[in-house]
Amino acid sequence: MEPVNVAVIYYSSTGTVHALAQAIVEGAQKAGAGVRLRKVRELAPPEAVEANPAWAQHLKDSAGVAEATLDDLGWADAVLFGTPTRFGNAASQLKAFIDTAGPLWQQGRLAGKVCSAFTSSGTAHGGQESTLLALSNTFYHWGGIIVPPGYTDPIQFRTGNPYGTSHVAGAGAPGDEVLQAARHQARRVVDTAAALKAGRAAS
Ligand SMILES: Cc1cc2nc3c(=O)[nH]c(=O)nc-3n(C[C@H](O)[C@H](O)[C@H](O)COP(=O)(O)O)c2cc1C
Repeated sequence: MEPVNVAVIYYSSTGTVHALAQAIVEGAQKAGAGVRLRKVRELAPPEAVEANPAWAQHLKDSAGVAEATLDDLGWADAVLFGTPTRFGNAASQLKAFIDTAGPLWQQGRLAGKVCSAFTSSGTAHGGQESTLLALSNTFYHWGGIIVPPGYTDPIQFRTGNPYGTSHVAGAGAPGDEVLQAARHQARRVVDTAAALKAGRAAS
């Protein structure tokens, strides 16, 4: 069978979600998937970016990551979205990309994909779950098959977010535990997408 195609599409201002996205890529590749890592376009005005040295630095550091296109969404058997929490919601940069997907949706080409999401927030109770649940609204509209990590691996009892991998950026860069959780989430997404792909090919 052909490998599962996984699109990891994310937004990150200061690198936290980018680090999670890289661990998601590692987990998906290790599970045998073909993976595209894609950032969404930065839409903030240059003066806003330049006012925050960490933001300006990350923009430079991530210059080599390709920007997401609709072709990436159409190609994917599984989609993982990553976003920082913004007032308890997804970042507008990611939402703007999602909002270009109308034509694919209209053609029914988003239905049946395996979908999952990951996030970071500044503080522990800053809205990680609400951000992940908000992204689920999109997946429902697509007719996606939402695959959360739940408590399906011992690592989930250590990092504790069944909705999707999440990190408190205010406590520093993602450490080994949360990166392990991200790899586990990716593996679970790939395993589910592979089973579906095999079943669809056989039917
Ligand atoms: C406009 C704005 C809104 C934010 N809203 C929240 C929030 O609601 N809760 C929270 O804990 N952190 C909030 N943050 C902090 C970000 O979530 C945090 O900086 C981000 O997760 C870091 O990820 P990144 O390094 O990938 O950009 C906000 C930051 C900005 C700039």
